[in-house]
Amino acid sequence: MRIDIITVEPDLIKSPFENSMMKRAIDKGLAEVHFHNLREYGFGNYRQIDDYQFGGGAGMVLMIEPIAKCIEKLQSERIYDEIIYMTPDAKTLNQATANTLSLKENIIILTGHYKGVDQRVRDKYVTKEISIGDYVLTGGELAAAVLCDAVIRLIPGVLGDETSALTDSFQDNLLSPPVYTRPSEYEGMKVPEVLLSGNFPKIEEWRSEQAYKRTKEIRPDLLD
Ligand code: ADE
Repeated sequence: MRIDIITVEPDLIKSPFENSMMKRAIDKGLAEVHFHNLREYGFGNYRQIDDYQFGGGAGMVLMIEPIAKCIEKLQSERIYDEIIYMTPDAKTLNQATANTLSLKENIIILTGHYKGVDQRVRDKYVTKEISIGDYVLTGGELAAAVLCDAVIRLIPGVLGDETSALTDSFQDNLLSPPVYTRPSEYEGMKVPEVLLSGNFPKIEEWRSEQAYKRTKEIRPDLLD
């Protein structure tokens, strides 16, 4: 899978890709991530990329031309399955979306800044808009890193069996059950007996019950 990220803050977004799971996926050749500094497509000596909004109001808006130039350059090189815009005014990312995106070959992720991008960018180029939650970040860079992490770990071969994504929270619309490791007792707090029993059908049953109980308590909306 190839991901092209268009950003005004490339340094802000690079480090998650230089560490841990995403770095491993890139090193294994399972994911390819390219960063494009929007400023390189800006106007004039100052490489202008934003301007005041029509109608007045606080905050600058990213202009359509630099973004169009960058996207069209990329589109002249390959076909993209999705052009995603990270923005708080969109549907919230969930596991189903991450699963779907993990099967794509080429995607562009556009990150907003300031007041966001000119609406015509969204109308003309963007095929999918994603928010990572009901709060406003300074820019879409961290949101794009979150999206990439959620997607890249699902690409077959990225995670080993020991960290399989299949038992993650949300994979069945349920939260994960509690987990324990050694010691089996800490300051009088004991690990549930069933987990030490070696009876795997019973363990599975206990985990399912716990997952359901936790979901009902914390996220009943997932059960609707
Ligand atoms: N940009 C700013 N806030 C965001 C959010 N919550 N999700 C996605 N992109 C954003």
